[in-house]
Amino acid sequence: MYDVFALPTFRFPEGFVWGSSTAGHQIEGDNIHSQVWKKEQDAPYAKSGKACNHWELYRQDVELLAELGHQAYRMSIEWSRIEPQEGHWDEAALAHYIDELERLRGKGIQVFVTLHHFTHPQWFEEKGAFDPYDNLKYFERFVSYLVPKVAPYVANWHVFNEFNLKMDPGVGRWKFNMIRAHALGYHVIRQHSKAPISTAHAFVDWFPRRRHDKLDNAARDYIDWCTNDFFFHAMRTGELTYPHMDAEYDADVKGAIDYWAVNTYVRHMVDARHAKFRGKRFAHKHLPMIKEPFYLEEMFPEGLIANLERLTDKPVYITENGCACDDDRWRIVWIALHLSALSEAIERGVDVRGYLYWSTMDNYEWGTFAARFGLVHVDFETFERTLKPSALLYRDIIRANGLNPEITRKYLKELPTLGG
Ligand code: BGC
Repeated sequence: MYDVFALPTFRFPEGFVWGSSTAGHQIEGDNIHSQVWKKEQDAPYAKSGKACNHWELYRQDVELLAELGHQAYRMSIEWSRIEPQEGHWDEAALAHYIDELERLRGKGIQVFVTLHHFTHPQWFEEKGAFDPYDNLKYFERFVSYLVPKVAPYVANWHVFNEFNLKMDPGVGRWKFNMIRAHALGYHVIRQHSKAPISTAHAFVDWFPRRRHDKLDNAARDYIDWCTNDFFFHAMRTGELTYPHMDAEYDADVKGAIDYWAVNTYVRHMVDARHAKFRGKRFAHKHLPMIKEPFYLEEMFPEGLIANLERLTDKPVYITENGCACDDDRWRIVWIALHLSALSEAIERGVDVRGYLYWSTMDNYEWGTFAARFGLVHVDFETFERTLKPSALLYRDIIRANGLNPEITRKYLKELPTLGG
């Protein structure tokens, strides 16, 4: 049902926090000491280059966030800028981030800081990154250096972003290391900050392609464990589990999370007869919103409700949710449907405290600039920022602490169709 004009009015609980999310490598530009930058140089896909040039334009971007009424902003601090060479701390880069954090605080914007959003220094990559357990000491040194300096500005922490989705064979040991690295980050942060700590979790709704088929259902449960439950279970019990691994118990892991940080986009079809379990979407739900093939070609807000109902033991923040589209009307439809689902999840007892739209602005989507997620349009030649109607809709949603048909109609004259 895409007829968002027919949605009833819904309001969010008092104190609900509204904002948007970004990540350093995707917006800053010239993140030259990171392993992802290095990889891009020989890759057949688009390089991040100057990205949104946020590194130079961050003052203007902070103004923009305030103008749009955002109450919260999620950003990452690039380890490869802070420690570009092993053991060498770049104080100018640190001062730059502190200036940005100070400006955000000056605007009354709560900051969610992610310490590792897919990128890390190339020197760390060359040592094997998180594969050898022994390398966690480098991450610990970085976190111990950074956290006391930025803690006064941080309202919520994410140690990592989305390490949960990998499920290639043999990834079990790495996943145990990542869980332990998360816990290590948690305990270091806790020494310097009282702010809540989490790791942003990519919460995919896995859906058996053939609902009647035992194999598809078994594969779904297996993948759901490998990507979702292994993390929730470890945080809740301290028990590290993964297929083909002997379980381990780690007392430091148990309870090392204060809230669930949920990044939520889409469901994936599970087809057990496919080597990578990837099933085709149902044709009638297929919604290609951009011209190139992209993983996000469906709206499935009901999956959000089903997933959140698994997280009733702690507060929840939606730390990413959004769509890539060329026609901004799809974004308005997306936001309306997902907020409607979110308010239903709250009604059903999930303690959702805030929503951060992905993303503040169009940015570098790991290999392409074609997937535009932004509330704000970015011209990647001139770096000019232009507000999209969805940015203004979102500002009205924030002011109303909810959505009603008047707001929807103000920014959406008619429903979009794939025919243009
Ligand atoms: C990631 C972002 C990414 C977004 C949209 C999330 O999985 O954290 O870095 O840009 O999805 O694909």
